[in-house]
Amino acid sequence: MAKIHRYERAFLILSAIMLVVFLAALGYAAFGMGLHLPTRAGQIRPEDVARTPPFDRPGVREVEPGRWEAVVVARAWGFNPAEIRVPVGQPVTFRITSVDIIHGFHVDDTRINLMVLPGQVSELEYTFRKPGEHLVICHEYCGAGHHAMAGKVIAE
Ligand code: CUA
Repeated sequence: MAKIHRYERAFLILSAIMLVVFLAALGYAAFGMGLHLPTRAGQIRPEDVARTPPFDRPGVREVEPGRWEAVVVARAWGFNPAEIRVPVGQPVTFRITSVDIIHGFHVDDTRINLMVLPGQVSELEYTFRKPGEHLVICHEYCGAGHHAMAGKVIAE
């Protein structure tokens, strides 16, 4: 049998342990903490956003009892609607797309953090646990008005 150098053996064991630790951390984040990547929820022609449901009517609505949808259109340099009012304690699915370039949608103090890509619908479900006002910022540099591209989510 080939002899394995002891440093090599140590590295092999260390690598195996690291793999297990990282997998455990990933599993805990996904199943224990409920962290998920935003879903790629379909494609949309950027030039048709204004007449493609649900983006023809941006805003918040109850899609079935106790379930809400927040439809947001991003453009340089603002979100429509800029003020999003959602109920506390009920799941809200954020659906968002861009009509021009790449933007970001980050809601302060939450795990809502979406890339907003022209041609693509980004989706994420979130339940606000307590009332409050959250700043929404665009976190992808999108030109001269990037720093001013903001909105708010009010959970009430
Ligand atoms: Cu939109 Cu930065």
